[in-house]
Amino acid sequence: MTTALITGSTAGIGAAFARRLAADGHNLVLVARDTERLQDQATELHDRHGIEAEVLTADLATDDGIAAVEERLKDRKAAVDLLVNNAGFGNKGRYLEVSMADELTMLKVHCEAVLRLTSAAASAMRERGRGGVVNVASVAAFVPRGTYGASKAWVVQFTQGAAKDLAGTGVRLMALCPGFVRTEFHQRAGMGTDNIPNWMWLDADKLVSAALTDLSRGKSLSIPDPRYKALMGVVKVTPRSLLGGVTSRTGRKYGPQ
Ligand SMILES: NC(=O)c1ccc[n+]([C@@H]2O[C@H](COP(=O)([O-])OP(=O)(O)OC[C@H]3O[C@@H](n4cnc5c(N)ncnc54)[C@H](OP(=O)(O)O)[C@@H]3O)[C@@H](O)[C@H]2O)c1
Repeated sequence: MTTALITGSTAGIGAAFARRLAADGHNLVLVARDTERLQDQATELHDRHGIEAEVLTADLATDDGIAAVEERLKDRKAAVDLLVNNAGFGNKGRYLEVSMADELTMLKVHCEAVLRLTSAAASAMRERGRGGVVNVASVAAFVPRGTYGASKAWVVQFTQGAAKDLAGTGVRLMALCPGFVRTEFHQRAGMGTDNIPNWMWLDADKLVSAALTDLSRGKSLSIPDPRYKALMGVVKVTPRSLLGGVTSRTGRKYGPQ
């Protein structure tokens, strides 16, 4: 039986990964800050699918939290075969409206934690000659869109670069770039979603299913929906000066309320 560790497992995309991987018979290590919610999730997944689900409470905005998850990933006696770096959040407000402390917390969770956890997992996986890492980025990585988009651009560049360096070792790394997904994300950030057209919303379970198919095919970048693949194709050929205008208008329309 293989084991998957998922950060931000208790809600949204992370919870969809947990459901799918448990249904496929993987044991799980569930990571988030809310211990009670983690324990309820572990019990439910164990009872429903007969898998073992460990709970690891950690705040990935802190050094101690990141170190605790690193330690678990380095444990050779209880190897982790798949890491899903998914924990993340949005900040309310555009540039200079967000406090420096909140900007830095975002970089800690989206970049430093992803760097350190990927590295801890990948080095143990390379020794065993197999394993996978999914780093959840966003299509926001491809448009100029504040610290959120910049942090997700880092996730994409870092993951694809590391994937290239580890080619042939048996360790697969993939950046996953969802569009809008119905989760707790927007509500937690205080962002309004009423104006987002229905066709732009993705289902978390379908997203995870497409992502795991892409990982099994050895892709290092997954944009798992034809609508967003088409949109990102347009973005690629649009001058960045135009994109800046569109994304800041989008920010005003769909952004914090
Ligand atoms: N929803 C979207 O439209 C969308 C689109 C593109 C990309 N994404 C990305 O997808 C990922 C998951 O987002 P989601 O939409 O599923 O969000 P969500 O529903 O708000 O879930 C976030 C999860 O992360 C955990 N978490 C948050 N901060 C944490 C921290 N400091 N340390 C440890 N765990 C933490 C939360 O649990 P606790 O609060 O208990 O810690 C929760 O389990 C994020 O990286 C996000 O940027 C989302």
